[in-house]
Amino acid sequence: MKKTFVSDIKDSVGQEVELKGWVYNFRSSGKIFFVQFRDGTGRVQTVYSAAELPEEQWNILNQLRFESSVIVRGIVKEELRAPSGFELQGTSFEMIQLAPDDYPIGKKEHGPDFLLDHRHLWLRSERQWAIQRIRNTIINATYAYLNENGFIKFDAPILTPNVCEGTTELFEMDYFDLGKAYLSQSGQLYLEAAIMSFGRVFDFGPVFRAEKSKTRRHLTEFWMMDAEAAFVNHEENMQIQEGLICRIVQDVLEKNRKELVVLERDVVPLEKVQAPFVHMTHAEAVAKLHEFGSDIGDMDDLGADDETILTKQYDRPIFVEKYPAVVKAFYMKRDPLDPNYVLNADLLAPEGYGEIIGGSQREDDYEVLLARIKEHHLPLEAFHWYLDTRKYGSVPHSGFGYGLERIVAWVCGVPHIRETIPFPRMITRLTP
Ligand code: 4AD
Ligand code: MG
Repeated sequence: MKKTFVSDIKDSVGQEVELKGWVYNFRSSGKIFFVQFRDGTGRVQTVYSAAELPEEQWNILNQLRFESSVIVRGIVKEELRAPSGFELQGTSFEMIQLAPDDYPIGKKEHGPDFLLDHRHLWLRSERQWAIQRIRNTIINATYAYLNENGFIKFDAPILTPNVCEGTTELFEMDYFDLGKAYLSQSGQLYLEAAIMSFGRVFDFGPVFRAEKSKTRRHLTEFWMMDAEAAFVNHEENMQIQEGLICRIVQDVLEKNRKELVVLERDVVPLEKVQAPFVHMTHAEAVAKLHEFGSDIGDMDDLGADDETILTKQYDRPIFVEKYPAVVKAFYMKRDPLDPNYVLNADLLAPEGYGEIIGGSQREDDYEVLLARIKEHHLPLEAFHWYLDTRKYGSVPHSGFGYGLERIVAWVCGVPHIRETIPFPRMITRLTP
């Protein structure tokens, strides 16, 4: 008997196979019993008939309950009406564990809080399965694209002595006799040290923001990919991002058709994600927003609503460039044409999703950077090592960081990023 997976049964048509997994649904009509089975790779129905199954197994089958773990064996048949395209004509059935009769997630609608409280079980549902599989493709596409473009993976620490982004969003803890430690908000500063050895590097891991934002775009723990490259300017930085995002969308369209169907994701907008992306300066974005009735000030950061309005006007991602320096981080290089602005870009995803990437050219002059650290009232002693990177062989360089969950939410077309990470952490949620 061939032991296989649902994803591979297409290779076994007409043969008897064995599958191990879980029962997500079942129904019986007298002498026929339908088992809706999933094994992690996919879903398939097995049809048993009382006439063909040993009586003992038929009796076990008739005690079945949702989410029991089982072994099904049967002959693979093509079945065009089935979503998988196949069906098993059951030959034998084995119970691994009979689940109790109270599986909390049923067919009726549940509220988001109930589902999040049962996240450990909710992950088994088909939509959640599809989202995590697309997330996996996005992670792999990112590694592939960056490796193919000369970036090596370089792991930044999570416990750090210094802030990277805003000081108001730091998770802080006592660190033995060494004072305070902070959970990393981004590995960027460490990558800036690394490029002086490796040229191009990226990190990929969890980062933390003690942001008191209760929006559909904010988590307190999320996964960031930071990339950093020596001798890359602001323009080239955006080209790398454009290539990466096109690759991600292309790979998902190629590898996750089934999952996109499960999510009922309209793929037409995804197919339009092609280079070149839209570019506009912050000043141009503000002017456009005024046309649409926004009251955003000339020197204001774009709010989530502003981003939503803007991205609904275009079918491609938008780079909003050159923000006012006052709303951006200390390390961004000023625009030589107007030092009130910085050489940065936020990349906004279409369909109202908004910011998925933040990036910039970095200040590479020792004295200027030192002055910025002081202006921002950052503790100098925690930045000595960082300043060293501008002392010994400083070079023009740029980088960016993407929020994995924001990209997954956009590509999957799900409204809230809490569904895009296995176990979401938000200001009101720490379990499961
Ligand atoms: O724009 P941010 O804050 O940029 C940085 O941290 C830079 N140091 C990155 C770099 O240049 N290497 O964060 C980068 C991205 C955002 O564009 C957004 O996609 C995501 O991280 N992000 C969040 N995702 C979920 N929850 C939050 N609270 C997030 N904050 C930022
Ligand atoms: Mg940002």
